Order: sequence, then C-alpha cells, then structure tokens
Amino acid sequence: MYSKFNSRCMKLNFRKQYHNACVLMMTLLFFSIQIAHAQQQAYIPDPDPLVQQRLADWQDMKFGLLMHWGPYSQWGVVESWSICPEDLSWASGARLQRSNGADYAQYRKDYEALQKTFNPINFDPAKWAEAAAFAGMRYVVFTTKHHDGFCMFDTRTTDYKITDDKTPYHTQPNADVTRAIFDAFRKKNFWIGAYFSKPDWHADGYWWNRFPPADRNPNYAIDKHPEQWQKYVQHTHEQINELTSNYGKLDILWLDGGWVAKKTSDELKAEMQAEYEGSRWARNPQSQDINMPLLVKNARQKQPGLIVVDRAVPGVYQNYLTPEQHIPDEGLPYPWETCMTMSRSWSYTPNDVYKPTNELVEKLVDIVSKGGNYLLNIGPDDKGQWNDTAYSRLRDIGNWMAVNQSAIYGTKMYAHFAQGDSIRFTQSKDGKTRYVYLFNYAKGSLHLADIKLQKTDAVRLLGYEKALIWKDEANGVAIQLPEAGMNASQHVWVLQIRSL
Ligand code: GLC
Repeated sequence: MYSKFNSRCMKLNFRKQYHNACVLMMTLLFFSIQIAHAQQQAYIPDPDPLVQQRLADWQDMKFGLLMHWGPYSQWGVVESWSICPEDLSWASGARLQRSNGADYAQYRKDYEALQKTFNPINFDPAKWAEAAAFAGMRYVVFTTKHHDGFCMFDTRTTDYKITDDKTPYHTQPNADVTRAIFDAFRKKNFWIGAYFSKPDWHADGYWWNRFPPADRNPNYAIDKHPEQWQKYVQHTHEQINELTSNYGKLDILWLDGGWVAKKTSDELKAEMQAEYEGSRWARNPQSQDINMPLLVKNARQKQPGLIVVDRAVPGVYQNYLTPEQHIPDEGLPYPWETCMTMSRSWSYTPNDVYKPTNELVEKLVDIVSKGGNYLLNIGPDDKGQWNDTAYSRLRDIGNWMAVNQSAIYGTKMYAHFAQGDSIRFTQSKDGKTRYVYLFNYAKGSLHLADIKLQKTDAVRLLGYEKALIWKDEANGVAIQLPEAGMNASQHVWVLQIRSL
C-alpha cells in the first residue's frame, strides 16, 4: 500500500516536473523566438504619415548622387579614416602618410592643418547639378561633415570649418559650399540630403583631449564623465539644428557612423563577447546615446516629413536601409538604397579607376528591379573639380536614360525580378506595362520563361520604331529580336510589354 502510494506520488511528481520542464522549455523557446525576431527586424516603419508619403516619393526617384569632399581631398587619402588609430588596411592613406616617418600625433596635426590650405577655387556646383540632372539623378546627398569633424557648412559650434578665417576659401562668395551645393541642385529640382557623421573626431566631447584616442569610439568612460558626453550631444544637436534651420528645405538627413547608438546592457555584453572572441583586443563598448528622439523631433519641427536615415541602427529612425558597396541578392520588403562609388573610393584619390558605363547602367537596372534606389558617389578633388571620366559616365548614362527612362521611374518590382544573370524585370505602377531588361542583345528568338502574353499585348523595344513579333511557347513566350534593334540602345536594352 505504502509503496503503491509512494510510486503514485513519484509518478505525479514526475509528471509535475515534466510539465514544469515543458513550460520552461516553451517559455524559453517563446523568448528566444521573440529575441531572434527583434534582431531580425531590420526595418521598423516610421509612424509619421508624412514621412511615409515622402518615402514613397523618394522610392520613385531611383537614382541619386553622393559626394564625399573635404580638406582630406588635398592629400587624396581615404576620407577621415587615416586619423583613426585602428590598424585598417583599407585606409591606405594612413599607411602611406605614416610610413613617411610621421608619428601619430604629428600626422594628426598635419591632417588638421589641411584646413589652412583648402582652397577649392574651381568649385562650380551648377556644373555638377547640370551633369547629374542630365544623367537622370533626382536627389543629392553631400558630406556636410565627415568623421574628422571638419564642417563643410557655416556653423557656430567650431572654427574647424570651411567658412573660418583659417580656411583660405572663406573669402569666396561660395565659401559655404553646403549652401551653394544645395541651392544649385535645388534649382534642378533635386531633393536635398545632408550626409552628417554622428562621430566627430575633432570634438572634445567625443575624442577628449585629456586622453589619446584609442579607436573610432569616445576615448573616455561616458558614465564616469557624463558632462563631457553631454557637451558632445549638445554639439551634435546644435549642428543638426543649424543644418535644418539655415539651409532651406532639407529632404533627407543621412546619418553615418552607426556605432554611435544607444545600447542596452545586454547588447553591450553581447558586443563585448563578440569583440573578445573575434579580435586580439577587446574594447569596452559603451552606449553612445545622443538622444535621437529629441534630435529627430527638433529636426522635423523645422523640416516636416524629413526622411531620417540613422544608418545601421535598427529602429524607427532608419527610414530606409543603405547597403554599402553592395546590391542585395533579392528585393527587400522595405525602402532601401545601395550607396556605391563610381570609382574605387568615396573621396578623391589620384589615378582612381572608374567603373565602365555598362556596369553602372546594369547596376542601376539590377537595383531598380529589386525595388531599391542607386546612390552613386563621386569625389571632387582639392580644387573642387570632378574627374573628366565622371562627366563622361554621367553623359553616357543620360543618353541611355533619354531612350529608356520610362522603364526606370515609376516602376515597381515584378513578380520575379530576374531570369538568370542578364535579364531583369519590372512593371509600371498600374501593372499594365511590364519591362524586360536585356544586359546582352542578340538577334533572333528570345525565350522568356514565366511570362504570358495576351493576344492584344504589344511588345516594343525602347528606341526602336516597329512592334516586335512574339509567339506563345510552352512555359513562356518567344520574342523575335531584329538585327536593327541592336542600335536601339546601348549597355542595356529594354522591352516594353503593354497590355490594353
Ligand atoms: C564607408 C566609409 C565611410 C563613408 C561611407 C559611405 O562606411 O568608411 O567613410 O562615408 O562608407 O557610405
């Protein structure tokens, strides 16, 4: 009896424990799914309806211009990075210059002294705007301040700026180059974007002069010196206030330096662990909270509907995503833009190599077929000039656009974006027109799988007069490409399929 009772109790106990273990496992599973979900949630839509409207308009623009320009352009080194005390093989400027014998402290002094010789006397933003407009670009993003902290606009917060007496160019009527660029591009109906680096390696609140900088991050413990950090937060808010108050209509605030972000202690722990495992030295990650809610609230008070791009910081202030030097394999289910250099580097370097027009047009088409925008970068030189090749590329792209632009603007993703590596698809917004982009043109029969045509559909090759002949095939359609069609365009040929 006793043992029966006992064994029953044990059974019950076991069941209870089993039940508890299951509940625990389910709870853990639930939370880990939640965490994974939160981590995967790369995009969080902004609840402001005006921002949503502006984003939809921005997605129609497809093609924009990015420019990296500053006193560093005189040395032709990678923008800003050569003063960052990390061993970065790609910041070759640092290696070159420093291997010339200069120690770090001297190197940084020399770098900052570039302000005293920066005199881009051939700066003519109207010429840039003209060339970019011809190419079909519709918005511009300009480095108002890069990580080195040099302001290419007129600010009251620092004398490390283009309009200061120490900068030779300050006497010129266009000394406030940010204003001149924004005005010139606005005249061509561009949307205006301010690239702004959150990290500022000149500001005492970020790299405090009391200590040597250690890496790209603040060089002191923020929680020990909150007043020092507040100086930097204040400095950043003031500069954004100037840019959003004094420079006319601003459409995009493009914030770079995603490591400046608020972090929870769990995120910091995970980062620390990753650093420790992944590198020879572990740093102490810190929450770099610059009060984004207030920053954005103030900015949007002056610029209603402002698109804010807090790059690489998942959350509500990253209104679109910005894959860098890279095109995603597939379309992304949120607004995005690939930023990419037209040559090899972001800022001017001597003897830079420019991508051929073919590649640029194909990339534009590839991006558009995946629902994104293409932000193409050109780096002006120390005199304020673009390389001739940049102009000729923009001219070639413009000539292509003159024939094919109806297949770029006002399009959206099609059911599938590609057939193999060299055919892309989109459709018009009303879905009545489909576009097929051919990266190669060969006369004869072109088989398009998964495309069905109605009898009344008309197929044209943009830039070619006559309608094309087509016929249904098992699993798709065959379109006859005439020999003369070869001359309809260059780089990429576009078929337009219209339904009545
Ligand atoms: C990279 C570069 C940075 C540049 C940015 C533009 O992150 O390091 O200097 O401003 O690309 O997207």
